[in-house]
Amino acid sequence: MRMLGKTALVTGAGSGIGLAIAEGFLAQGARVVAADLLDGPPEALAAAVARGEALGVRMDVTEPDSVRAALAACAAAGFDIDVLVNNAGVIHVGTILQTRLEDLRRVYRVNVEGVFNVTQAFLPGMIERGGGVILNMASLASLTAMHDRFAYSSSKAAVMMMTRSVALDFVKQNVRANCICPARVHTSMVDNYLKTAYAGQEEETFRRFSEYQPVGRMIRPDEIAGMAVYLCSDESQMVTGSSFLIDGGVMMGV
Ligand SMILES: NC(=O)c1ccc[n+]([C@@H]2O[C@H](COP(=O)([O-])OP(=O)(O)OC[C@H]3O[C@@H](n4cnc5c(N)ncnc54)[C@H](O)[C@@H]3O)[C@@H](O)[C@H]2O)c1
Repeated sequence: MRMLGKTALVTGAGSGIGLAIAEGFLAQGARVVAADLLDGPPEALAAAVARGEALGVRMDVTEPDSVRAALAACAAAGFDIDVLVNNAGVIHVGTILQTRLEDLRRVYRVNVEGVFNVTQAFLPGMIERGGGVILNMASLASLTAMHDRFAYSSSKAAVMMMTRSVALDFVKQNVRANCICPARVHTSMVDNYLKTAYAGQEEETFRRFSEYQPVGRMIRPDEIAGMAVYLCSDESQMVTGSSFLIDGGVMMGV
């Protein structure tokens, strides 16, 4: 039980990586608040909710009022958050010339302002209670340029630097902040953009993207959850301000 006694909030916990992290934390003894745009907790967490180990809250990370309401709902239910995972995120596929201002704003509102809004709301409580851990979901695209990811890459570069900035400013208050930088993880995000941005070439593109990662496949969400458990447990007490690649070897020769 590597996270016994911890209470975590995971944004974007309704599917994909966020859901896998919520399940990974619960399996290691943490109590978990699953926050997403959905009303009610994800079906996969229903048993943990019934046992009082998990809570589902509706939160739109782009809306400060919604984030504050979720904070109040956590407190009312006795979930005082000491681990925050900023995982909610969206993507846009396109070069700068294929990106409309509204696309850029949509991506920045969720990926950048979302991390800002949620961290600003939950960090004071963590500090009051003696400290905590923040884990942000950045991307391989935070570190290296990827084709057709203009808005997404730049938003995820911001996430990486927001992580370091918070880590530096709050290290003396016993707050750690790190980020994970995954290459492609097979989730609905990938399936959805294959359908919309690569229509008619889904299978070929899926294969190409899998082969881009030298290990030869996409990452599974539970493989990100394993790293999240390490970074949010006391095993990583000396780790802060760092970015962790999980990329099947993409960057090994770079
Ligand atoms: N899948 C990948 O290849 C990959 C790679 C690197 C990084 N990431 C990042 O990992 C995170 C999770 O991605 P995923 O692949 O699991 O995607 P996903 O689409 O399966 O899940 C994202 C979740 O975020 C939620 N969400 C979106 N906007 C929100 C908002 N405004 N407020 C609250 N919740 C919101 C969605 O409802 C969804 O449940 C994202 O930040 C993504 O950028 C994904």
